[in-house]
Amino acid sequence: MLEILLMAAAYLLGSIPSGVWIGKAFFQTDIREHGSGNSGTTNTYRVLGKWAGTTVLIMDIAKGSIAALLPIWFGLTIHPMIIGLFAIIGHVYPIFAKFKGGKAVATTAGVALGAQPLFVFVFILLFGVVLYTSSMVSLASVLTFILAAVAAPLLGDWMFTVIVWLAMILVVVRHRENIDRIRKGEENKVPFGLNKKR
Ligand code: G3P
Repeated sequence: MLEILLMAAAYLLGSIPSGVWIGKAFFQTDIREHGSGNSGTTNTYRVLGKWAGTTVLIMDIAKGSIAALLPIWFGLTIHPMIIGLFAIIGHVYPIFAKFKGGKAVATTAGVALGAQPLFVFVFILLFGVVLYTSSMVSLASVLTFILAAVAAPLLGDWMFTVIVWLAMILVVVRHRENIDRIRKGEENKVPFGLNKKR
């Protein structure tokens, strides 16, 4: 029973639309009407600047990590990734923002951080390398998730693997417009790395 309550709590936590609320509260701006239209870190950074972007990043990661840690705090044996999955679903389909949410990257990273921190640190490094060389957050996100899904079975934690695979599928599906732009050489770049936008 407590497990079901934690799933619901994780979904509600994941549903907090950090970018939308920060944009409206501090900048009187609906982030979804500007830039790429996404409500995540990259678009918040792009439209509202680094402090807003960093705050959204921290909040989106924290939503996932807190959700994954909930069963541990409550002394339950259910796998943290199962509760975390509900935060990821909340982030992508938030009840507080008409079910139009983000692209699953930061919140999934937060969930995985709560369950397998070392694994996540390795992939944060990889994300950094791809971002530095391409200056495209979307490319770094998609490649990192695909490679993390390939590597996940090495941990021998099958539930972790299954949920990383589900998250990877969600990330790829949510980035289909980005993937299209990458293929056409038209993807937005960020002011960081070797190919940064000028
Ligand atoms: O996680 C989102 C990022 O990969 C791309 O964001 O705003 O450029 O579509 P955006």
